[in-house]
Amino acid sequence: MLAPNIEIISNEPEREYAQTVSLEHRKKYAQFFTPFVVAEFMTNWILGNKQLQTILDPAFGLGIFARAIRQKNADCFIKGFEIDETILHEANAIFEHEKNTSVLLKDYMFNDWGNHYDGIICNPPYFKFHDYDNKSVLKEIEENLGLKLNGFTNLYTLFLLKSAYQLNKNGRSAYIIPSEFLNSDYGKLVKSYLIENRLLRYIIVFDFEENVFDDALTTASILLFANDNKKSEVEFINIKSPDELQSLQIKIQSYPKGIAKKTFSFSELNPEIKWRSYYQKQNATRFKNLIPFSTYGKVVRGIATGANEYFTFNQSKAKEYNIDEKNLLPCITKSVDVSGSFFTKKNFEELKQQNKNIFLFNAIEQTEASSKYILKGEAEKINKRFLTASRNPWYALEKRPPSPIWVSVFNRNGLRFIRNEANISNLTTFHCIYLNLFSQPKADLLFAYLLTDISKEIFNDNRREYGNGLHKFEPNDINKALMVDLYEISKTDEEQILSLYYAYRESELSGNANASLLKKINGIFLKLFTK
Ligand SMILES: C[S@@+](CC[C@H](N)C(=O)[O-])C[C@H]1O[C@@H](n2cnc3c(N)ncnc32)[C@H](O)[C@@H]1O
Repeated sequence: MLAPNIEIISNEPEREYAQTVSLEHRKKYAQFFTPFVVAEFMTNWILGNKQLQTILDPAFGLGIFARAIRQKNADCFIKGFEIDETILHEANAIFEHEKNTSVLLKDYMFNDWGNHYDGIICNPPYFKFHDYDNKSVLKEIEENLGLKLNGFTNLYTLFLLKSAYQLNKNGRSAYIIPSEFLNSDYGKLVKSYLIENRLLRYIIVFDFEENVFDDALTTASILLFANDNKKSEVEFINIKSPDELQSLQIKIQSYPKGIAKKTFSFSELNPEIKWRSYYQKQNATRFKNLIPFSTYGKVVRGIATGANEYFTFNQSKAKEYNIDEKNLLPCITKSVDVSGSFFTKKNFEELKQQNKNIFLFNAIEQTEASSKYILKGEAEKINKRFLTASRNPWYALEKRPPSPIWVSVFNRNGLRFIRNEANISNLTTFHCIYLNLFSQPKADLLFAYLLTDISKEIFNDNRREYGNGLHKFEPNDINKALMVDLYEISKTDEEQILSLYYAYRESELSGNANASLLKKINGIFLKLFTK
């Protein structure tokens, strides 16, 4: 018989926990909980193994998966790992009458390599490489799996690889993780391993309007594995709301039967590319004569100071410390300071008058005041920060000339490009775009294109999703993205685009941006490049 308190078939314990324990503590341990309906869905996959006797949950939390399992299977043995004593104390109270459930206060990554399970179910902690002891964990993976992984690897994928290794014959595993690794550089080796071990069966990507995890800024996907040789392909499934899980349940119950549209054999899957192309229609496929953006230029991140509060200056701070303009580098420090598509000298002067932070301390000429300010930095240990400590001298700025075009890093409605007519520098809030010899003669035409919806649509194929509609582009996402070949445009079309573009620029700078001109430019590109 199950103890009555195990039959908690909702997120009530998690809700209570989140109310009593600080967000800081939860963040420290990456405690973001699985919604109960999702836990049930994952559980049903695991229970599809008819010989199931042992189950592992490597990141137990309050045991949402064990609670879901116990609704259907009272006998199997469930083992859990949990690193946080506080949450384990709560979990033990929930499971106190349960003989067949045992949770160990241990780090999953450094324990249990010798055991194998019939079912492994997990919502692993999301930790970027600098948030965990990444060297020791990677060493553990290398020693046990013979896999040398990229130092930027997020911990959740390492949980995933270890669990895939710990599956018994006919064992099944269900993981809920951010979709990020499918489309990121560090994910390539992880994907290669998943292709090689041939256990992956389904990748279910959530395209929810709302975050699946209440306060975590990520998108989620569920990966289902089976160690059974019954299939040699992976099916990609997109779902738009948790309600769709029910009908999906029926489909997945028929495993290994059923052939679906977005199915790719292990030999077809390419670990080198973003796997978004397998589950999301690529906008670029609708257009012709596309070439990589890197043909025309290079995108690199803006200046990172390592201590913005120290390095950034406004006019009053400059006055206070008596730093003259020779030792101040004009620089955009916040994206909100730039509203339009053109940033002119006049805009810069306006920000200066508004006392915005638009300078960086750039000690190129030694003055009494600059020496004093450097000493102040040392007294405040600014010279010991991660980035400053690696520079020589520590207060020297990264050498990065102003770029003619900026592009926003985080976006909600597609990429935002800005023509840097003021020729000033920028912090990491924007990436810099440098043009090469091939594109310099076409700079205006290129910028006209960057303002269009068609360009945004095609760039979107390479975005990273952060949940809640927030998208991020790393420099290489743009370098590798596609764009139209400007040299395919005839002289007449070019002239027409340019005259519309100059008119648009005028309209924007006079404070009355005429969007219909942009629409016309977009129309010309569509006419020329739609297949
Ligand atoms: C994302 S939560 C998931 C909790 C629960 N399984 C759920 O789905 O709601 C991850 C849990 O793993 C724990 N954890 C973090 N690092 C761990 C590690 N290295 N080994 C074991 N548990 C860990 C955290 O304390 C947290 O409770």
